[in-house]
Amino acid sequence: MTDIANSFGLLRLPDSIAFGDGCRSGIARTVASLGHRALVVCDPFLASTEAFNQLLQELEALDVAVTVDTQVVPELPVAVVEEAIERAVLTRPQVIVGFGGGSALDLAKLIALGLAHGTPLNRFYGENQVPGPVIPLVAVPTTSGTGSEVTPVAVLADPDRELKVGISSPYLIPRAAVVDPRLMVGAPAAVTASAGADALVHAIEAYTSNNHAPQWADQLPVFVGENLLSSTLALEAIRLIGLSLRGAVRDGQDFQARSRMAYASLLAGMAFGTAGTHLSHAIQYPVGALTHTPHGLGTGMLLPYVMQALLATDARRLADIAQALGVATDSTEESAQNAIDEVAAIMADIGLPNHLAAIGVTEADLPRIVELSLTVRRLVTNSVLEPTEENLHRIVRAALNGDRTALKPVPTAASTESENQQ
Ligand SMILES: NC(=O)c1ccc[n+]([C@@H]2O[C@H](COP(=O)([O-])OP(=O)(O)OC[C@H]3O[C@@H](n4cnc5c(N)ncnc54)[C@H](O)[C@@H]3O)[C@@H](O)[C@H]2O)c1
Ligand SMILES: [Fe+2]
Repeated sequence: MTDIANSFGLLRLPDSIAFGDGCRSGIARTVASLGHRALVVCDPFLASTEAFNQLLQELEALDVAVTVDTQVVPELPVAVVEEAIERAVLTRPQVIVGFGGGSALDLAKLIALGLAHGTPLNRFYGENQVPGPVIPLVAVPTTSGTGSEVTPVAVLADPDRELKVGISSPYLIPRAAVVDPRLMVGAPAAVTASAGADALVHAIEAYTSNNHAPQWADQLPVFVGENLLSSTLALEAIRLIGLSLRGAVRDGQDFQARSRMAYASLLAGMAFGTAGTHLSHAIQYPVGALTHTPHGLGTGMLLPYVMQALLATDARRLADIAQALGVATDSTEESAQNAIDEVAAIMADIGLPNHLAAIGVTEADLPRIVELSLTVRRLVTNSVLEPTEENLHRIVRAALNGDRTALKPVPTAASTESENQQ
């Protein structure tokens, strides 16, 4: 039973979150309640869809003047973002709508930030650097994965930095999130797989992050670690992803699987938006920069190795994850190992490569990957594993060759003896 008297809870969320088939028909009214000049930031592919054109008509019917910006590119180079902000300044929108995958939602967040506080954006890199509220944002995801519709983060690429950079601030949380699973039905299998894998990583890392109560009287960090409120959401997300990610990738028209993934990704975003993530994300930053592979492919591939490294110190929480995935037994240790094996099986079944060498990483890259991962302090310090060079090196070495057994604790003479006596 959870020790509530000695725990804490914290969530920061949009003012409203709508979920369900058909809730997209409420987007226009939500936008109109926030302003009558809107900028809609949309993925170029999605701009040609019927659902998007319907939204434009509904906005027009409510007398909302709309400008559409479709210059969304994956990875979001800072120069592209700052140009989008310059274009947006000319139309002075009162409300921004982000419609698309994580890239479109993050661009919408960054435009809302730039309009309120100006450029260059590098003044806001890191945590809690945004000085005040931004232009209100309505976020409409069309992939199930990033959770960006409810999180305080936007990620972009800056050629002056080797790694992608995050801007994290509670002021970046969208004012409203509208999650309609019907919008995800067309997403290609590879996007469904990498985005869905990332949602599972968000939920599992939120659930296994540090859980020390914050210093309440101080300015709180953006990510405060695992807590009562985030954990409830994370476990339900893990359960649903375990039931449906394989199906959503296998058959994109499977609306039950799509709906579960859209809901689970939302819950995972709500959980990690306050709890934070940790090592798979920290290591993916340099791996992504080196290999130019999608964010979720990297975090999803790394997760089983990170979980394996956690087993020695965190078997209880891994066993809770096994319970959510339906693979628990009476033994905590065995359940924890089953959870790791099940996560690795899900990643394999959806087609993710299972080791770093498969995406072009070599032995010679390991020291730099470790060094750069350790610079992402907000993530490595959010893990219960001490963020030492040695610990990180063990994980990336095991991930390089696909050898999780290298991370399993070596049985001592004493433990073997006690097992024999049972
Ligand atoms: N802000 C956050 O909290 C957060 C969290 C995780 C990741 N991210 C960022 O999100 C980005 C990844 O987002 P993503 O995985 O959603 O991918 P994405 O937004 O880059 O989109 C990938 C591709 O899928 C297409 N697509 C999206 N929805 C579609 C649909 N319904 N039908 C057909 N095609 C569709 C897009 O046109 C694009 O070509 C990364 O840049 C990552 O850094 C942000
Ligand atoms: Fe992620």
